[in-house]
Amino acid sequence: MKNQSVLKNITIGFLLLLTFILIATSTGCSNQEKQTALILYNENDPFINTFARQIEELISDIPNCQLETIDSQNSQIIQNEQIEEMAARKRDLLIINPVDRLGSYSIVKKMKDQKIPIIFFNREPLIEDLNIWDKAYYVGARAEQSGQLQAELIMGLFGSDPGQLNQYDRNGDTSIQVVILKGEQGHQDAEIRTAEVVRAFRERGFKLEILITEVANWNQEQAFEKMEHILKTYGSRMEVLLSNNDAMAIGALERMRQEDFFHDTNGNGRIDPLDEDWLPVVGIDGLAEAVKEIESGYLYGTVLNDSLTQAKAIVELSEYILGMRDLDGMNFTIIDNNYIWIDYKVFTLD
Ligand code: GAL
Repeated sequence: MKNQSVLKNITIGFLLLLTFILIATSTGCSNQEKQTALILYNENDPFINTFARQIEELISDIPNCQLETIDSQNSQIIQNEQIEEMAARKRDLLIINPVDRLGSYSIVKKMKDQKIPIIFFNREPLIEDLNIWDKAYYVGARAEQSGQLQAELIMGLFGSDPGQLNQYDRNGDTSIQVVILKGEQGHQDAEIRTAEVVRAFRERGFKLEILITEVANWNQEQAFEKMEHILKTYGSRMEVLLSNNDAMAIGALERMRQEDFFHDTNGNGRIDPLDEDWLPVVGIDGLAEAVKEIESGYLYGTVLNDSLTQAKAIVELSEYILGMRDLDGMNFTIIDNNYIWIDYKVFTLD
């Protein structure tokens, strides 16, 4: 009799323990602290800087999720070491903005071996590299779209009719003379934006004369430097400046102001394109500084590279990967082997 009651107590104790273990593991994802790392190609890039702050802020709202931000200072060698270190410290997820997007193979391979999920963003790995590991994702925007929207902005400015360009065809030759500032060679956004903006004009029957395509690596200072020579050689013929991003457009505007391409004749602190000397410059990104340039009339326009929505997608995907959100509860669709795409938008002041 005594033996039976001891056995009963042991069984009850065992069942209680089992129930406790089951409850603990099923809620483990939200109770147990998750450690993630955000690894940036270069924190000095203004677009990436804004983007990183947006990701940090959104992740800080997730309970029990720690994020460490790391700057790779534009060096793939440094970044590889940082990734190794984060893996050795058993991070639950790495959010990576690669320095060299074409060198992602070894990163994906190593993280697969260590079973650490990765979300790449902004610099798109080759699809064959991403496909190595089913927990490797990419969140980004389609570069083609930004080139097309940039072309649409300028076609509208020139009157939308390729057969009858308006006063912005300054030499009246029915062709648009353009200077292109290109981002980093090999970056999908630099290559595709440059090709696509030109293709979009030609597809709509606009004649384009490319005076020069100059690489300025997304960088404001480099654009400022390179514009000195460009303006000396092509300044009198240039009708439009197409920049792959806002930072380079701002560098170009600085040089153009210095070289008197703009005249605020009535001194109201703004440029009025219809009455004052002006030349159209367009960027891509929607940086706060670019918005100020648009407000003061210098920058004609930009295309919004919607980092806030991309950051939201990265954070929701992180929650899903970490077991804190169901697929059904996501506001973004994961398609084609682990991609989330966010639209570009023409930026307007309202
Ligand atoms: C692009 C952006 C550029 C630069 C680059 C860095 O998407 O338009 O300004 O930040 O990413 O990879």
